[in-house]
Amino acid sequence: MTEPHATAHGHDLADIVAKYDGRAPRYTSYPTALQFTPKVDEDTYRGWLRELPADDPISLYAHIPFCSRLCWYCGCNTRAVNRHEPVGEYVTLLCQEMALLRDALPDRMSVRALHFGGGSPNMLSLEDIERLFAELEAAFALAPDCEVAVELDATGLSREWVRSMRRHGLNRASLGVQNLDPSVQGAVNRIQRFEEIAAAVGWLREAGVSSINLDLMYGLPHQTTANTRATVEAILRLQPERIALFGYAHVPWMKPHQRLIDEGALPWPAARLEQAEAAAERLAAEGYVRIGLDHFARGDDDMAKALEAGALRRNFQGYTTDGAETLLGLGASAIGRLPRGFVQNVAQELGWRVAVQTGQLPIARGVAFSADDRFRGEIIERLMCDLAVDLDAVCARHERPLADLSDAVTRLAPFFGDGLARLEGRRLEIIGAGRLVVRSVCAAFDSYFEPAAERHSKAL
Ligand SMILES: C[S@@+](CC[C@H](N)C(=O)[O-])C[C@H]1O[C@@H](n2cnc3c(N)ncnc32)[C@H](O)[C@@H]1O
Ligand code: SF4
Repeated sequence: MTEPHATAHGHDLADIVAKYDGRAPRYTSYPTALQFTPKVDEDTYRGWLRELPADDPISLYAHIPFCSRLCWYCGCNTRAVNRHEPVGEYVTLLCQEMALLRDALPDRMSVRALHFGGGSPNMLSLEDIERLFAELEAAFALAPDCEVAVELDATGLSREWVRSMRRHGLNRASLGVQNLDPSVQGAVNRIQRFEEIAAAVGWLREAGVSSINLDLMYGLPHQTTANTRATVEAILRLQPERIALFGYAHVPWMKPHQRLIDEGALPWPAARLEQAEAAAERLAAEGYVRIGLDHFARGDDDMAKALEAGALRRNFQGYTTDGAETLLGLGASAIGRLPRGFVQNVAQELGWRVAVQTGQLPIARGVAFSADDRFRGEIIERLMCDLAVDLDAVCARHERPLADLSDAVTRLAPFFGDGLARLEGRRLEIIGAGRLVVRSVCAAFDSYFEPAAERHSKAL
């Protein structure tokens, strides 16, 4: 029997993570949001939209920044509301934003994926859903096989809500579970019983939603390996197609409400790691395929198949099978990706609202891709998705000499030395415990990354 936390090189995993914890970005984009500037504005965006090939299908992301309560760990752009009025007003503006977007596009574009994220989109009323889809169908042509996905908070969900969304094509849902232990839930203001999650999953299945993801977390206050294992055991009974396992990112300087969390109750790095690995081992034993940094999928799920085919992508929602070149964002803080670069909407709801009301596309900032961004972005995306990249092939596609990567490869020497990565010819592979520090491997290729200057959450 091997020691649970020994690597091939005999290092303790926690030491490895501590050594390489350069607080690297999560690389849901490259360049990352830190490089977004107001130089990319509404005019730039309008120009980029006009250039879109009219017959290429697009993806849409709509951000719904409302929840019934604020979980103290939450890193999302959302707020708690106890009345429906602000949600209804937001939906009215979202419809206006869609109309503005439609007018800025070359044609009535076909949509192949539609994602409602949050926050908790189930804060939308049944009437809001009807209004949103009426506007969506007027502005865009939803493809018959369109992927319609939604993030849900099981505690506020109803069977009617699920049925109503299903009538509009809902086929994918993601629910936050985090951890089921009452002491953890109490310490983060997220009280949620297993039965509520099971009921939500039951309504989704009964309505015919074929793909369900459950989010788990590790590293929350009072979280232990034992209560992590118990949570995994419970959710396995619900047979989710996918599971995301996120390490709690404690960034109180960015999210002041996280100060409500008792830092003394947060598990130490070695304990966090043990929780993550215990969950991962159990999921692997159950047949789930481990995907990139933090995802697991059943072998027959599209995400596992995309991994196998080298077609997995990474975007602002994390790992995705959506290969669309264009993702347009709607709502406060939403980020879009176009062939020419990234754009982000105004993050504050008030600013977003004022822009839309005055007929502007509410762009606050963004970044235009340089040829070097595309080159490095492809390497980083392949590493984040496949934990491997064929450097020769990427260099050839971008007409760059391999020598342009020699600095990055030199920076990887310690990873090679510690058995975390290897070069097989021109193929760079992350191996063994290297998966845990993949963000730091990617940072070696990031020409903007300055380890000392940036404050991201810990890599694990
Ligand atoms: C939009 S929520 C999911 C839907 C719904 N609002 C809910 O919480 O059930 C997104 C997910 O992000 C994860 N998350 C939120 N804050 C986080 C943080 N600070 N660190 C790591 N993961 C976090 C949680 O797992 C959460 O389920
Ligand atoms: S974790 Fe989900 S329910 Fe909790 S505050 Fe964040 S978005 Fe809302």
